Amino acid sequence: MRLTDAFVARSLDEIRFWSRIMKEHSLFLRLGFRCEDTQLIAEAMQFQATFEDIERRSHAYSLNTDPSTIREFNCEVQNAATHIWAFKRKVLGLILRCKLPGGTNFPLLVDHVSREANYFRNRLDELNCGQLEPLHDAIIDENVFFLRIMADHAKFIGHLLDPSERKLVEQAREFGHEFDQLMFQAIDLSSMRPQSQTVPLLSQFVDENKVSVKSLRDFKKTAADLIEQCRIKSIIHPLLADHVFREAERFLFILEMFDRSLSGHHVNKKELLF
Ligand SMILES: [Fe+2]
Ligand SMILES: [Fe+2]
Repeated sequence: MRLTDAFVARSLDEIRFWSRIMKEHSLFLRLGFRCEDTQLIAEAMQFQATFEDIERRSHAYSLNTDPSTIREFNCEVQNAATHIWAFKRKVLGLILRCKLPGGTNFPLLVDHVSREANYFRNRLDELNCGQLEPLHDAIIDENVFFLRIMADHAKFIGHLLDPSERKLVEQAREFGHEFDQLMFQAIDLSSMRPQSQTVPLLSQFVDENKVSVKSLRDFKKTAADLIEQCRIKSIIHPLLADHVFREAERFLFILEMFDRSLSGHHVNKKELLF
């Protein structure tokens, strides 16, 4: 794959995945506002429409699209991601100053979705500047980011399940603890940089995380199916259950790519898009 093709492929892949995620965040935030918060509801609906349009256009482009068109598209999407990030931080400020009493968006959930928006806009910026992180740094940084995201998901699931679903709540709590531990382990590895960036250590780190993410991914899948079939008691929107499942799949996909890059000697460095 030529470098420009890789740029187009990687940009479209990121935008297709994250624009759908941003669209869904807008819906979740809207559902958590009180009915009198008409201005916030209108803003959330506007973001939903914006990202739906971006998602649609990202599917209309292909690998044959001119890289300069994609570069412009990336700028536009990055701008939209920056705006939704600012909106989420504004909402977080309102909640933390107790201006939205009775709303049902947890502060940690709002912070979480703002971190995802920030990740998205940074990635677009890196793509456009042609400055993706070197592999050994990306492995640590992506893990620190996604392990925290996974720990948050487990906690959200635990809090949105009905308390009477005792076994599932307990399982969610255990996953929350496991991913907190993994995240601290990743932070430890990060602070030992660059000495910690040996192939055996990084590959053990990736393998261990992969095992845990697979089991959390399966738990989310089971929960999503049970919610869809109305077999358990919760206030989890079926789309939210599917959303967190897809984010775990995304993390696994990234881990598998790291795994291949660390073990394969035939990987062309320039094609390592991280
Ligand atoms: Fe999300
Ligand atoms: Fe998430």
